[in-house]
Amino acid sequence: MKNGLKHLKKFINNHEHNCIVLVDKHTYASCYPLLDTNVPHILVPYGENYKNLNSCEYIWKKLVELNANRDTKLLCLGGGVLCDMGAFAGTCYQRGMSVVLAPTSILAMVDASIGGKNGVDFLGLKNYIGTFNKPSQTFICPEFLNTLPYPEMVNGFIEMLKHGLIASKSHYDHVKLFFLKDRHAITPNLINDSIAIKTRIVEDDFLDLGVRRRLNFGHTIGHAIEANSLRINEENEALSHGVSVALGMVVESYISHKITGFSLDQLNEISTVLSGLVKSVYEEIPEVSELMPYLRRDKKNSNNTINCTLLKEIGEANHDYEVEEDQIKKGLAYLKSLK
Ligand SMILES: NC(=O)c1ccc[n+]([C@@H]2O[C@H](COP(=O)([O-])OP(=O)(O)OC[C@H]3O[C@@H](n4cnc5c(N)ncnc54)[C@H](O)[C@@H]3O)[C@@H](O)[C@H]2O)c1
Repeated sequence: MKNGLKHLKKFINNHEHNCIVLVDKHTYASCYPLLDTNVPHILVPYGENYKNLNSCEYIWKKLVELNANRDTKLLCLGGGVLCDMGAFAGTCYQRGMSVVLAPTSILAMVDASIGGKNGVDFLGLKNYIGTFNKPSQTFICPEFLNTLPYPEMVNGFIEMLKHGLIASKSHYDHVKLFFLKDRHAITPNLINDSIAIKTRIVEDDFLDLGVRRRLNFGHTIGHAIEANSLRINEENEALSHGVSVALGMVVESYISHKITGFSLDQLNEISTVLSGLVKSVYEEIPEVSELMPYLRRDKKNSNNTINCTLLKEIGEANHDYEVEEDQIKKGLAYLKSLK
């Protein structure tokens, strides 16, 4: 992993006859110009609704048109949607071309670009088709964040808070300070700390068979909320991944309180930090019946049970707790009570 735009530009210069940049409309307008290059690009629509096999087919057709081969570098320049989908498309093309990630959102820098999980949504189910495959290189360039819209910054802070909640109370406290007070002043150090937490966990369990599942805190409920919202809303009206995960983290913190002995004080603490998000999307908090179709098909399930990662305390989590529908229902009621 390399830090800084300078390194990315050098990489592109070294591969200018052998590199294709994958962008969406926003990153083409905001980030591609910072590369100072004319290497060819492939433009895909932005947003979670386009994280699908149709977009992959489009990417594959363009790669053929551009005579890409397995040595060609597919440089994915975008947020988590583009990095997940581009890495998947590149991994499948000719059984695996060289994929390079240049994440441009905070969420993609600290989470989506780390750990080699890539893929697309399928039949409305999140990340249902995909592979584990590490990119050949990843460039973290905070310079891209200058144009990131404010709600997207918040989405990134949410995953950073999650890293603290599951693995480091001090990281949680630091991110919380930025989240609550000074949201524009994110420092590269804080981003690097979050990356280090995720990297450490992934190194212990690349294939997601054990400890890596702790990174799913908030995601069992969060993915169901996100998928349900995408089903009933236009793309730009749907809840974002980050906000959905924040809501999921409140529900799963409540369930933690009921199952693991996670303290009421710490539940209140997390709820206070995230409650601003709850107020703004209160009307969109679904009923448990709307979530069940997604929860039953969640990838993390085993033996027909719904599995969650739960907190024991802030900074410590455990994976694979079986959770009942009724507990989720009560968690959603708790979420609604925070309004
Ligand atoms: N693979 C993993 O381990 C993993 C982990 C967490 C999340 N994810 C995935 O990440 C996705 C969410 O990623 P996201 O929050 O980055 O959303 P996103 O990729 O949709 O990006 C958010 C928006 O910001 C725009 N954008 C990105 N960078 C920009 C910049 N620098 N300037 C201006 N606009 C910019 C994008 O075009 C998009 O419109 C979800 O699909 C989620 O499933 C994957």
